[in-house]
Amino acid sequence: MSRKTIIAGNWKMNKTPKEAEALLGEVLPKAAGAACEVVVCTPYVDLPTACRVAAGSKVKVGAQNVHFEASGAFTGEISTGMLNELGVAYVIIGHSERREYFAETDETVSKKIGAALAAGILPILCVGESLEQREQNVTSEHIRTQIKVALRNVSAADMPKVVIAYEPIWAIGTGKTATSAQAQEVCQMVRETVKECFDAAVADSVSILYGGSMNAKNAAELLAQPDIDGGLIGGASLKAEDFGKIIAAAG
Ligand code: PGA
Repeated sequence: MSRKTIIAGNWKMNKTPKEAEALLGEVLPKAAGAACEVVVCTPYVDLPTACRVAAGSKVKVGAQNVHFEASGAFTGEISTGMLNELGVAYVIIGHSERREYFAETDETVSKKIGAALAAGILPILCVGESLEQREQNVTSEHIRTQIKVALRNVSAADMPKVVIAYEPIWAIGTGKTATSAQAQEVCQMVRETVKECFDAAVADSVSILYGGSMNAKNAAELLAQPDIDGGLIGGASLKAEDFGKIIAAAG
């Protein structure tokens, strides 16, 4: 099993460029000896600073969104070429907040994954169910659809570059973490779905992260699950101390 363990911070709409420089300055020494891949996904305006500060370190920089067109009349959007020039390595695609507040669909997510891969930027595809969907017992149908549509145009050769983050919407920013058994159950189903779309070898090579109130206390147990290969961390990634502990928990 050769897949990467990844601890990725999602700063969301937090930190000005100056604040980003300070936080990253605290994160770098904590990531220096990390056995896992460490990523920080910052707001767009922080990316130049983050790429400069993280250059030559263990920390890779990610964006939180990207547009699927290369250029043109798309006011307010950012292209893969713009991210490439800065040295951005990863991009979060289809986060539930983008889907909920900015009308992103499985269709646009699919196009964005294609654009990221074509540009050599590693996509972190987010999937996850709402509380209502969990209560109605349609979690796996919902997530299987999200994955199948998102990965529809991805080749088997490109799949090892795709990271999938399972983020139950009811656990995001709520302090209510999925139990390790719940998280493992869905992450295993995610891997099964990738196997159905491609094959066992591809499914085995894909890193699947858990996200949703992962913190310094619960990280080790979640990360010990066989199908959880890392975490996508919001709130706790804004505190270097906590983020450092999660990185350490990933071994
Ligand atoms: P949280 O956010 O860790 O604050 O729950 C996770 C995410 O939305 O990626």
